[in-house]
Amino acid sequence: MFMGVDHVGVAVKNLDEAVGVYRDILGFNLVGVHVLTERKVKVAFLSSGGETQIELLEPLGIDSPIAKFLENRGEGIHHVAVKVDDIEKALEELKKKGVMLVDEKPRKGVEGKKIAFVHPKSTKGVLLELVME
Ligand code: CO
Repeated sequence: MFMGVDHVGVAVKNLDEAVGVYRDILGFNLVGVHVLTERKVKVAFLSSGGETQIELLEPLGIDSPIAKFLENRGEGIHHVAVKVDDIEKALEELKKKGVMLVDEKPRKGVEGKKIAFVHPKSTKGVLLELVME
């Protein structure tokens, strides 16, 4: 069902400043920046040189889920995203096993990808994102 870690999401207060740290100081390559208005986040993807990217997420507005996360936990790892070959089937299988889902149906991610989140209550505290290309 899973095909590797697609990216690790990191919540940040200021995207430009965080890109500066990850690109200019740490040495990751900036792949793209996207504004996701319906999810109220601005994200930047950075390449690690391999299959797994880093996604930096800045909240757009105080009602953004990332704003709530920053308020409670501060900056840091927000989610881990794994690739799946069939996201509908993956959600169905997980639901059958009693896994708590944030999204019962996939929603639109960046660049036409389909994504869905699995609740941290079912994953030992890790918000898990499923991604299908
Ligand atoms: Co993500």
